[in-house]
Amino acid sequence: MYNIALISGDGVGPEIIREGKKVIDTVSNKFNLNINWNGFPFGSENYLKTGELLPDSALNEIKDMDAIYFGAVGDPRVKPGILEKEILLKIRFYFDQYINLRPIKLYKGVNCPLKDKTTEDINFYVVRENTEDFYIGTGGHFKGKENIDHLEVKRKLFQTKIRVEFSLEKEEELAYQIGLVSRPGAKRVIKYAFDLAEKKGMKRVTSVDKANVLTNIYGLWREVFEEISTQYKNIETEFNFVDAITMYFIQKPEWFKVVVTPNMFGDIITDLGAMIQGGLGVAVGGNINPEGVSMFEPVHGSAPDIAGKNIANPIATILSGAMMLDHLGEVKAAQAIENAVETTLSEGKIKTCDLGGNSSTIEVGDEIAKKIREN
Ligand code: NAI
Ligand code: MG
Repeated sequence: MYNIALISGDGVGPEIIREGKKVIDTVSNKFNLNINWNGFPFGSENYLKTGELLPDSALNEIKDMDAIYFGAVGDPRVKPGILEKEILLKIRFYFDQYINLRPIKLYKGVNCPLKDKTTEDINFYVVRENTEDFYIGTGGHFKGKENIDHLEVKRKLFQTKIRVEFSLEKEEELAYQIGLVSRPGAKRVIKYAFDLAEKKGMKRVTSVDKANVLTNIYGLWREVFEEISTQYKNIETEFNFVDAITMYFIQKPEWFKVVVTPNMFGDIITDLGAMIQGGLGVAVGGNINPEGVSMFEPVHGSAPDIAGKNIANPIATILSGAMMLDHLGEVKAAQAIENAVETTLSEGKIKTCDLGGNSSTIEVGDEIAKKIREN
């Protein structure tokens, strides 16, 4: 029996989660799993009505559950950042979900913008660190009265490494942000990447950084990567600078197996990855704490422009449900979902408009559920 926290959220969230839940319930029936859904109302509607975002009492309840299945948050009526920061990021940090797992997989029947690349060429994982780097929220912003020499500010920042006190005229305003990589933080995510490569029989792990310029934090990252790699003799390793890897994702995606990256570069290259796998409608993300509560969600947001129209593609959400079951150890059930999605996509009859079809959200969910029942 699995206790799953269910947060549909905003916009297309409820529509896609409904199909994801339908598919998981179907596969659970078939494989005799017992899923207990615990719905939570968090999102814009709830916030506008009650002023509540994500109370600690809910986190406390979710703490004892097996996983979180998440739609999307974000609403044009709410100032950008509030829901995303106070719900989504709060969950990621509270449960220390230090892995962001992003499969980059092109399915048959999905259009790839890269000429001559096939499903065999685009099939790898990006493992993104999810808690450190420039996302720790530490920085400063100087504004105020006193005139100051920018060069001097920069020199002082350089010397003190952390903090200087100045106040500046508006025209002189200046802001900075600090990135952090810790040895334990790098170690756990890099180790996860190597273990994943082993588990999936993939023979290469690529590290992404910018150690030639940002020598402190990514120098440490490299050091840790080299250390960990010695424990995995059968896996080939390499370093790529982040600027170079954006070229290689386009030029030779078939080269990549498991790519491990610090947080910010991961944020950027996974969007590139989503495009070469055929777009946001099929891009899946897991926020994983292997020792704690993990959260599974589509990569896309709440898509307010198409919300309520029953046309959003539910496949990213359905596949993130498969990733959740795989994470819980229900490998066969997860595989059954993926197979049903794969067949539906390759047949190409039932697909939503983002993939060039005209089926509804519900039709896609129904078709995938039907294929699971029939196989
Ligand atoms: P978005 O991902 O919601 O939408 C971008 C474009 O892709 C839109 O044209 C949308 O219609 C389309 N799209 C997205 N998902 C789709 C699907 N399943 N099927 C078909 N088309 C799909 O990103 P956008 O518009 O920048 O943000 C909208 C809201 O979502 C904002 O409030 C943003 O902050 C929030 N957001 C939330 C995320 C989350 O909860 N994980 C992630 C990204 C954005
Ligand atoms: Mg992003």
